[in-house]
Amino acid sequence: NLHKEIEELKSLIRDVPDFPKPGIVFKDITPLLHKPWAFQKVIDYIGNRYVGLGIDIVAGIESRGFLLAAALAYKIGAGLAIIRKPGKLPYKTISATYTLEYGEDKIEVHEDAIQEGMKVVLIDDVLATGGTMNAAIDLVERLGGNIISVDFLLELTFLGGRERIQKRGYPVFSLIKF
Ligand code: PRP
Ligand code: MG
Repeated sequence: NLHKEIEELKSLIRDVPDFPKPGIVFKDITPLLHKPWAFQKVIDYIGNRYVGLGIDIVAGIESRGFLLAAALAYKIGAGLAIIRKPGKLPYKTISATYTLEYGEDKIEVHEDAIQEGMKVVLIDDVLATGGTMNAAIDLVERLGGNIISVDFLLELTFLGGRERIQKRGYPVFSLIKF
């Protein structure tokens, strides 16, 4: 039963108090990744939603989003676009900035990573404030991608990230919610 399986996956997310700073409880997905059946289940659940939809490309966000994006792209037979932290990509890029608790950050993508009209699935490990994903959506929109879904392994529902993404008109899917 699906609910029980999701609960089982959820039990593999580890709380690490005071990381990366005092007062923050970090949601650590590595215990889930360590279990072969769990990682496979995650990719199967997410990927089976796209059977027959003709997704062209999965776009993943550095660095933890890459873990899921690569496996998902392989699973559904799509290409893989990598959205990276600044200065990592060798070819011509476009970039988007987003606000952090303190200051700003930036992500970049190759300008030829996505072609106009391509069906795109965006994926990252965690949805918190949605700042990172909103910047990624900016990039995909500017390249003319047709965003079919915005997916996460884990959602921190109390931070309101889902609403920020849905406001832009895109469906949000998360497997595990806290
Ligand atoms: C974390 C996480 C998401 C993002 C979620 O990434 O992997 O990408 O934060 O937060 P938000 O919804 O408030 O934007 P982080 O920037 O810590 O880097 P990493 O993936 O390289 O570990
Ligand atoms: Mg990240």
